[in-house]
Amino acid sequence: MSKIIEIKSRQVFDSRGFPTVQSDVILEDGSIGSSIVPSGASTGSYEACELRDSNPKYLNKSVLNAVENVNHSINNHLKGKNSLEQEKIDQLLIDLDGTNNKSKLGANSILSVSIANCKAAAKSQKKEIFHYLSRDHNYKLPFPLMNIINGGAHANNSLNIQEFMIRPDGANSFSECMQMAFLTIQNLKKLLESKKMNTSVGDEGGFAPNLNSDEDAIDLILDSIEKSGFKPGQDISLCLDVASNELYDGKEYSIITGKKINPAELIDYYASLANKYPIKSIEDPIFEDDWKSWSDLNNKIGNITQIVGDDLFVTNHERLNKGIQESSANAILIKLNQIGTVSETLKTIYLAQTNNFKTIISHRSGDTEDTFISDLAIATKSNQIKTGSLARSERVAKYNRLLKIEEILNNPGMSKL
Ligand code: PGA
Ligand code: ZN
Repeated sequence: MSKIIEIKSRQVFDSRGFPTVQSDVILEDGSIGSSIVPSGASTGSYEACELRDSNPKYLNKSVLNAVENVNHSINNHLKGKNSLEQEKIDQLLIDLDGTNNKSKLGANSILSVSIANCKAAAKSQKKEIFHYLSRDHNYKLPFPLMNIINGGAHANNSLNIQEFMIRPDGANSFSECMQMAFLTIQNLKKLLESKKMNTSVGDEGGFAPNLNSDEDAIDLILDSIEKSGFKPGQDISLCLDVASNELYDGKEYSIITGKKINPAELIDYYASLANKYPIKSIEDPIFEDDWKSWSDLNNKIGNITQIVGDDLFVTNHERLNKGIQESSANAILIKLNQIGTVSETLKTIYLAQTNNFKTIISHRSGDTEDTFISDLAIATKSNQIKTGSLARSERVAKYNRLLKIEEILNNPGMSKL
């Protein structure tokens, strides 16, 4: 038994400078686990509720009520409980909240405690977090999906697609992934400079140049892959996050500048992109409620391209179940704060893997120095992680943690794609 003696929370700030929740779980044996929760910008409407105050001093962004909920009701409820029983702790949090989207206490307050508890328990067992969380201690490193050009809701530019990512498919180790990404990103920067384009970065550390079209962004990335001496599609492939909720007006999509297209035309557009370019993954290609078009797209190109549900599934067990039945996608993006506890996140990951869905552990566009997702990716043998570009310390911290884990595990090799 590792008894919880106190839970303390405070308001801190995320990478966008917005308030967020940090909580510490303190155990009787002196172990302390601390966690800071991230926050999205292009959120799905079925995500668990992020509690924010109406407080003009913080432009209604403060989380002082969520902090108060941790310091009082959650602290009182969990004091004396066994930190090693993560599922029970998470169930107590779910029951104390009592709503189906965690809107009473806030998913931000609940998740901060759930993760902090997991970290405290690992510490009290003198184990690495990934080791404490793993079911079979059989480890592989995940491939990084690195968002190197930012558009959509994450940047102030003209790109419609939110994320243009590279994945170093040809790498044999995580360190090699980083070397390949480093070179490609530096060459992309040089290319942008040579075209007198802006090289400042967006929320996830990718460049945010003012290009004429999404295809121009793809061509620039392909150029920088080749300039680095790699073969596009073989050594490094392209992955997109369309975040199409943001482009949908209830009927049509504004993905091609100056033109609106319907769902059938959109599916054809993706098929032509996947034929023309080495695109191996497309996330949120379709609006979150159009299940039929998701299945149509997955049937059409799911055999050559990974189709990833983010806003569609929101890390939610029931929505994933529907997606499995309807063959809506073949991969799921996993974001802890979409659902709100470690145990529910694990349940969704294992449901996905049992049904041959790939699992991609993800950061949020507003993130922090917390590196829990790196350990989660290793513990669950998720074969991909999405945590931004090789810039901005809140992103790089996750990569640095994975480099350290690779060393701790004596280079166990990469997961299968
Ligand atoms: P978000 O973006 O964190 O702003 O939701 C990330 C994503 O859509 O994958
Ligand atoms: Zn997404």
